[in-house]
Amino acid sequence: MFGIKKKQIETKRTAVDERLQHVAFIMDGNGRWAKKRGMPREFGHKKGAETMKNIVRYCGSLNINCVTVYAFSTENWKRPKNEVDAIMNLLNEYIDYLYTVMKEDDIQIHFIGDKNRFNPELKARLEKAEKDSQNNHRILNVALNYGGRDEIVHAVNELIKQGKKEITEEDISSNLYTAHCPAPDLIVRTAGEIRTSNFLMWQGAYSELYFTDVLWPDFSESDVDKAIEEYYNRTRRFGAVV
Ligand code: IPE
Ligand code: IPE
Ligand code: MG
Repeated sequence: MFGIKKKQIETKRTAVDERLQHVAFIMDGNGRWAKKRGMPREFGHKKGAETMKNIVRYCGSLNINCVTVYAFSTENWKRPKNEVDAIMNLLNEYIDYLYTVMKEDDIQIHFIGDKNRFNPELKARLEKAEKDSQNNHRILNVALNYGGRDEIVHAVNELIKQGKKEITEEDISSNLYTAHCPAPDLIVRTAGEIRTSNFLMWQGAYSELYFTDVLWPDFSESDVDKAIEEYYNRTRRFGAVV
């Protein structure tokens, strides 16, 4: 635009306030990132796991209380076996890493999704990490074998087991995998797709959505800042008049 300077986006925010309690990331674009470099998709997942470490810690430094990352969906089992195996190996390495940061960053880990699909050793490791970090304060949800529809079905089945004949929205919310944290204020998706791919369907009803073309392995601290700047420029109405 002639003569109009684009508002300078400040990088390195100091901290967020109570308006931003929970940020969720759909970490997409690992495969395309690798393909652009002539490398196998697994290479992108490896770089993506590094990005995840960095972004989670950066969010902590901004004082964001709750972070959720979408790491593996209920639909991602459709991928070739070697890719799924590579992701499972990375997951095992990531659990080791989590042990080193959960103490330093006061992080309470929750693996959200159906853990029963994982092999018993991996499932036990996931549960142990959750248990070992349960007295920490900041929350990190890692969505694994997670699907929003699957989660709602699971919640309703829990309510049936409890003998409920009629249910409320609160009953569903409190039986979701995310019952321990508030709904996401902001959902960020990388890599250009404008969809939510079965992520936080119930909880995301009033989340602000932010889409960027940046591929997840390239996603940086300043990209987090940009998403947060945009979030703070939005007006949330929740259906009311403000
Ligand atoms: C996201 O990156 C990681 C997972 C879904 C496990 P993708 O692997 O979907 O990367 P693209 O979308 O193919 O580039
Ligand atoms: C969403 O990405 C799932 C994760 C980021 C874990 P996908 O790459 O699986 O989504 P689609 O297939 O493009 O919708
Ligand atoms: Mg993808």
